[in-house]
Amino acid sequence: MSQAINIAIDGYSSTGKSTLARQLAGKLGYRYIDTGAMYRGVTLYALRKGLIINGKVLQQLEFDLPRIQLEFIHNKNRGASDLYLNGENVEEAIREMMVAKAVSKVAAVSSVRKYLVEAQQKMAAQKGVVMDGRDIGTVVLPEAELKVFVTASQEIRTERRYQELKQLGKVLSKTEVEANLMERDLLDTTRKDSPLKQAKGALLLDNSGLSREEQLDLVRGWVDERLATCAE
Ligand code: DC
Repeated sequence: MSQAINIAIDGYSSTGKSTLARQLAGKLGYRYIDTGAMYRGVTLYALRKGLIINGKVLQQLEFDLPRIQLEFIHNKNRGASDLYLNGENVEEAIREMMVAKAVSKVAAVSSVRKYLVEAQQKMAAQKGVVMDGRDIGTVVLPEAELKVFVTASQEIRTERRYQELKQLGKVLSKTEVEANLMERDLLDTTRKDSPLKQAKGALLLDNSGLSREEQLDLVRGWVDERLATCAE
């Protein structure tokens, strides 16, 4: 087998980057790490402990960080990893709208970012990882052999997110879904610490007109090129 590489996938919310990262990891036999789930896990903890009041994150969260243990454990039924927060499976709970609404605020807290970035860098130290998020190519793994920045039109992203929530039995209007996406994009791209942006050397993937299979094929091609270069 050729030497394993690290793959960093960043992009806006609901561009399908998690699906791409998961499929890619499956094909390559690599480990998939959903860093958004980790920020959601910390947010769930903060909400449960009353550390977010009127949309404001209390400083106490910083002191509680060592008490927040996050772990990914493979779920055979889903064929994917579930997030565990201090030993509890929270995979469903972190997808709730309540968490989605607060997560960008928590993700803007520098101490939270530092805590999670260190954990993510440890996970990737052995290579063979596909990691998706907002700062993977810029901060977490700037040396990743392949960096991809995913985007899609606002309309398509809203439709995808709407369908995803509908399948989970969550009934929200498209206007509500779009408003949440836009608010998160704004917060993610304008925050001071590690704002979302295309990393140096990242390849741009606009998947507005691509099927899942087409985008996977395209990125597989990029991976093969990188693997060939690394083998030289
Ligand atoms: O990918 P997602 O929607 O599950 O991410 C949830 C939030 O976490 C998103 O609003 C931005 C933030 N995030 C981040 O700031 N850095 C990451 N590496 C991953 C997610």
